[in-house]
Amino acid sequence: MATIGVAVAGCGMIGGVHVTALKEIPNARAVGAWSRSTERTRQFAAQHRIRGYTSYQELLADRAVEAVIVALPSGYHAEYGIRAADAGKHVIVEKPIDVTEARARSLIEACRKAGRHLSVVFQNRYAPASQKVRKALDAGVLGRLVLGDAYIKWWRSAQYYTSNPWRGTKAIDGGGALINQAIHTIDLLQWFMGGAKRVSGVVRTSTHAIESEDLGIATVEFLSGAVGVIEGTTAVQPGFKERLEIHGQRGSVVLEGGFVTSWKVEGCAEGDYVDPQPGSVGGSASPVISHERHRAQLADILAAIQAGTPSQVSGDEGLKALRIVLGIYESSATGRWVDVG
Ligand SMILES: NC(=O)c1ccc[n+]([C@@H]2O[C@H](COP(=O)([O-])OP(=O)(O)OC[C@H]3O[C@@H](n4cnc5c(N)ncnc54)[C@H](O)[C@@H]3O)[C@@H](O)[C@H]2O)c1
Repeated sequence: MATIGVAVAGCGMIGGVHVTALKEIPNARAVGAWSRSTERTRQFAAQHRIRGYTSYQELLADRAVEAVIVALPSGYHAEYGIRAADAGKHVIVEKPIDVTEARARSLIEACRKAGRHLSVVFQNRYAPASQKVRKALDAGVLGRLVLGDAYIKWWRSAQYYTSNPWRGTKAIDGGGALINQAIHTIDLLQWFMGGAKRVSGVVRTSTHAIESEDLGIATVEFLSGAVGVIEGTTAVQPGFKERLEIHGQRGSVVLEGGFVTSWKVEGCAEGDYVDPQPGSVGGSASPVISHERHRAQLADILAAIQAGTPSQVSGDEGLKALRIVLGIYESSATGRWVDVG
């Protein structure tokens, strides 16, 4: 089987998730990794039995590397992604695509010009429950959608923010609870509801000593004319499973913690759709997550690279959730509705 050589930029928590996932994908070869700390790179490379690069230039110069996963702090995604595309590599960036729309668009343009693939990691789209809902919506099972809500009431300790200096900073995290944590569920909401048109929101820094929001709420109008609300926070103890509620003319579906917990839709037997043992994929009270959904998304991306087709979450697709979050920030600052469609 033909394999694709992949290197990871960033040897933090999520860089490790990527390498673990790559090792379980038959057509992937985890080639190496780089982070700005030589010691951290050495430890990470030894732990995962891959090559450790001493510089990003060295990673990009390695002909065995065909694709680069950018798992650096969010405000560096476009910069490092553009350098990878310019070096002829396919690009996979962690969420969010970057922290400004201008930089995100530069990355999309750089990959387009270089003829390289670009994907944004939103692994929760690949959860079996998310796929089940998307398939039902495509088949029109819920009828016309009227209301869609996302509640992400998570908890992060003070230590979570103080232990890593980029977290919660406007320059590098791009914001706080909405752009870093809630964005996963905001992406699912807009994906299920068929895209957002405009938002009106309010953000607050309620309990943490950070410069960005640890709490944000918004009203959303979707492109279809349906409406909904978003509540995203890292300030609610002890942290609850995130919840998505999708309502159509023919009934309602609820997901909690990444599983379908309620499916009350005309003509459907609920037992055929709800997940029998809804657990949680994590995130509500701790940043530690497992690698299965990353594995599913990376497998889809690598297959798309080999087939020369776009994957499910292209750069343009990944930009949508960022526009919603940035729209909420702008709305909170101006007191006006902000167009995000
Ligand atoms: N998909 C998910 O569920 C998920 C989960 C967590 C994090 N993330 C995303 O992954 C990215 C990284 O998050 P993390 O928690 O792994 O971060 P982290 O701080 O644990 O690791 C970041 C890595 O980047 C390196 N780095 C830091 N500053 C740098 C700089 N100025 N230049 C070059 N390298 C630098 C660090 O040395 C480290 O190797 C973020 O964009 C975050 O939003 C995604």
